[in-house]
Amino acid sequence: MITADDDGASGGRPAALLVWYDRHRRVLPWRPPAGVAADPYAVWLSEIMLQQTTVRAVGPYFEKFMARWPSVTALGQASLDDVLRMWAGLGYYSRARNLHACAVAVATQHGGRFPDTEDGLRALPGVGPYTAAAIAAIAFGRQTMPVDGNIERVVSRLYAVEDEMPKAKPRIQELARTLLGPSRAGDSAQALMDLGATICTPKKPACALCPIDDDCAARRRGDAETFPRKAPKKTGALRRGAAFVVIRGDQVLLRSRVAKGLLGGMTEVPNSDWLSDQDDAAARAQAPAVTGATRWHRKAGVVSHVFTHFPLELVVYTAQAPAGTHAPKGMRWEKIATLAGEALPNLMRKVIAHALD
Ligand code: ADE
Repeated sequence: MITADDDGASGGRPAALLVWYDRHRRVLPWRPPAGVAADPYAVWLSEIMLQQTTVRAVGPYFEKFMARWPSVTALGQASLDDVLRMWAGLGYYSRARNLHACAVAVATQHGGRFPDTEDGLRALPGVGPYTAAAIAAIAFGRQTMPVDGNIERVVSRLYAVEDEMPKAKPRIQELARTLLGPSRAGDSAQALMDLGATICTPKKPACALCPIDDDCAARRRGDAETFPRKAPKKTGALRRGAAFVVIRGDQVLLRSRVAKGLLGGMTEVPNSDWLSDQDDAAARAQAPAVTGATRWHRKAGVVSHVFTHFPLELVVYTAQAPAGTHAPKGMRWEKIATLAGEALPNLMRKVIAHALD
């Protein structure tokens, strides 16, 4: 194994970072102990899960997936429904569909082994430039630097990059490569990720503890917290709609969303369109016809949820259906007690909890 001391011969920031990493690296479920080669499957799975999701939220999901599907071949043999059910709650569900498609591709087209180059990885479903670089560096030791949000922040401060995000991305990518030493590319990347997560934090960075603070342009200027420069965020307009929770004894009426698009393939209670200019009456008029059920009862308050491109408010209506009531076409009754095993996104969990409250 090549240690940070060997890299120390070349000196400078890459070596200082690795020395720091060897002492302070976070213990994370997908990271093998120091010096042990990473499993490409575990690296890929964790990187897909970590897109737009925190390390803390990913931990339990990663463990559940590894326990149930210990290899990419096993995951490739699972049904998409089972994968979506296990993914429920992590959000950004197109990732789960791509995850499954990628496992199938690796199992059937690559004999169960991940390609070991960035280009080869890039050709897989759901693997973009960042993820390909992360797997290439961490699992295969390729000389490349994946740049995630943490690394963007560290590098933009180190070099006081004045361009706003996302325009600054190519420049930051180029500068990030200067932090690669002659070897241990995966550790260099993960050192920067850990540095960004624990020391070079968005607010109140702990510059006094930073292993590369001597060289930091933003630190010298005293305005580290103002990097990376960002244009004010544009959020989409608030959308409104209604959700309809029909209870039959110990069961609730559910349906599946179409496979494509937002929350594609996930389970939901019947609900209206989500539109920015929709009033309550128009949303309520889209209630399903459940023959024999009671009148709709409007629950006080609304359920709020924030998607990446828009916030949403749903008014919740409930109704009771007597035993034997048929589910409308395309819908089904499911036991409330076993909803944890359904592919229900968080929004729908909130809706059902609100209805049952
Ligand atoms: N975020 C994305 N990938 C990561 C990794 N390998 N370690 C820590 N944080 C990460």
